[in-house]
Amino acid sequence: MHYPYQIKSLADYHAAYHRSIKDPAGFWASVAEHFTWRKKWDTTLEWNFNEPDVKWFQGGKLNITENCLDRHLEKLGNQPAIIWEPNAPDEQPRVITYKKLHEKVCQFTQVLKNNGVKKGDRVCLYMGMIPELAIAVLACARMGAIHSVVFGGFSAQSISDRLQDAGAEFIVTCDGAFRGGKDIPLKNIIDDALIGNHTIKKVIVCTRTRTPVSMIKGRDVWWEDEMKQVEEQGITYVEAEEMDAEDPLFILYTSGSTGKPKGVVHTCGGYMVYANYTFVNVFQYKPGQIHFCTADIGWITGHTYITYGPLSAGATTLIFEGIPTYPNAGRFWDIIDKHRVNIFYTAPTAIRSLMAFGNAPLEGKDLSTLEVLGTVGEPINEEAWHWYHEQVGKKRCPIVDTWWQTETGGCLISNLAGVTPEKPSWATLPMPGVQLLLVDENGNEKVAEGDETISGNLCIKAPWPSILRTTYGDHERCRINYFATYPGLYFTGDGALRDKDGFYRITGRVDDVLNVSGHRIGTAEVENAINMHAGVVESAVVGFPHPVKGQAIYAFIIYQGSHQQNTHGSDDLIKSDILQTVTRVIGAIAKPDKIQLVSGLPKTRSGKIMRRILRKIAEGETDNLGDTTTLLDPGVVEEIMNGKL
Ligand code: WTA
Repeated sequence: MHYPYQIKSLADYHAAYHRSIKDPAGFWASVAEHFTWRKKWDTTLEWNFNEPDVKWFQGGKLNITENCLDRHLEKLGNQPAIIWEPNAPDEQPRVITYKKLHEKVCQFTQVLKNNGVKKGDRVCLYMGMIPELAIAVLACARMGAIHSVVFGGFSAQSISDRLQDAGAEFIVTCDGAFRGGKDIPLKNIIDDALIGNHTIKKVIVCTRTRTPVSMIKGRDVWWEDEMKQVEEQGITYVEAEEMDAEDPLFILYTSGSTGKPKGVVHTCGGYMVYANYTFVNVFQYKPGQIHFCTADIGWITGHTYITYGPLSAGATTLIFEGIPTYPNAGRFWDIIDKHRVNIFYTAPTAIRSLMAFGNAPLEGKDLSTLEVLGTVGEPINEEAWHWYHEQVGKKRCPIVDTWWQTETGGCLISNLAGVTPEKPSWATLPMPGVQLLLVDENGNEKVAEGDETISGNLCIKAPWPSILRTTYGDHERCRINYFATYPGLYFTGDGALRDKDGFYRITGRVDDVLNVSGHRIGTAEVENAINMHAGVVESAVVGFPHPVKGQAIYAFIIYQGSHQQNTHGSDDLIKSDILQTVTRVIGAIAKPDKIQLVSGLPKTRSGKIMRRILRKIAEGETDNLGDTTTLLDPGVVEEIMNGKL
């Protein structure tokens, strides 16, 4: 494949950016024409941020899997589409060519149809990082079912909430997943999620760990049995469903400032074009290169830069099942060495945690194939950036710092590897088509005077092709969350700086969303989970800086246990019980790092919790708590400070 829209120089970038702003429709139409459409679109762009209502490539007909698979068969049929590296290094990797992947996707599409899945149905995928997850994603897309991947670390309760919100009737899962030294019983967790559920019609279970599982007659079927049946019928091709450009492709749940995760909806045409465009440009992908993104397909990064971006570009994508530190902290470097990886894309948390092991795990590893490095998901501190640059990239490889969100579908701010300048800990310049601005609290645009660097809340003026279209089942929520804070603008929820060169540096969330190890978690969500514990009266959750995770969770909890709990429970036991509750309700990723039991929380006279004060206490900045005179009971602050962990 070649990519006529690949930006090759800084001048090219400026020209593309300029054109994309002057004529967004013309610009994106000229990119989109390099894809396979069953029918060309009638109108490139129609939009209105007040509703919000955004439509790209209206009237166009396509199937994203024809762009990710069919169109590559002739020239790239025998090229690896997926290289899979298992959790344990002594297990054999798998290599799946485009031809084979196409066949498997077609066959699994047939399996979905045989099990009653229809176009538009929601299918929940709760699987480990095995090629079958990518196959299931693509099979849904091929038949026009809407996939909703749920990360394998979420609890039964979280799955159940998501199934209900999406009205899903089908699940694809695995018996279990290997992750480091652990074996996660995915099917058992699904079974817990389905207690009392009467809406799920079929659960397709793929074998991975061969953990004992309960298979319910009439509901649960094995992936392998279903595939065998299709194979025995000699089926190797299934026609892709013709989709409208604006038909939903997937739902992905993400945390916001309310207690309930939102189902972000992306559509077929715009998402495809933008995922591919950013993949090819940010990483400067060259045909034949091996791209290794360490994210889980359960997050947006895995959707866009493991699956749809690379495959639509005819790239080879590496899927890794395990974790960076198993069996030792040299695992990533071994994989790069073994598979001759060219592009490596990971999260700052992973870099910081590996940095803590020193340079020994890197010794003897051949990293000479690396050409481009990338980071995503959270701000990268300069120290980690330099370590990555020197020890991993050997000062040869550009690092792309890619800023984006589940809602944006693809990367919106990043340098383009080796093409536009990099600046440690700065995401730098917007992608073509992305019109950023910084505003103050009242929504007034901030404008720099002279060469000063300014800061503000990061907003976007106009739509790019993969902007979220709605939040599933609740369009008003989408409007209120993203388009109502500053009318006429998309509000990211992030704060940012802009320097004299127009470079952006993301400073972090300005709303009640935490970013723990690059995972988004809403404070209200964690509070709701904590409050479900029987002895908890009230709680307040804030973030505090953590050297590896970026941010960690601090929970202040008013506890009034029962007689039984008071007599048998020490504070430690109470805290463990609360952690267990959070694990049950959300998943282990939302467990607070610190729990402080308190007798009261700082509240205003109107009963509002003053999080600002709690945040300062959690951060250890107790010298300057600001004005506490408006508090209902200022004594509470003293008590909390004395008991700080
Ligand atoms: C944060 C992940 C700084 C940001 C793709 C955003 C970043 C949230 C960066 C979205 C970056 C993402 N530098 N912060 N390069 N990338 N973030 O939806 O706060 O899981 O709003 O998408 O992660 O997280 P999400």
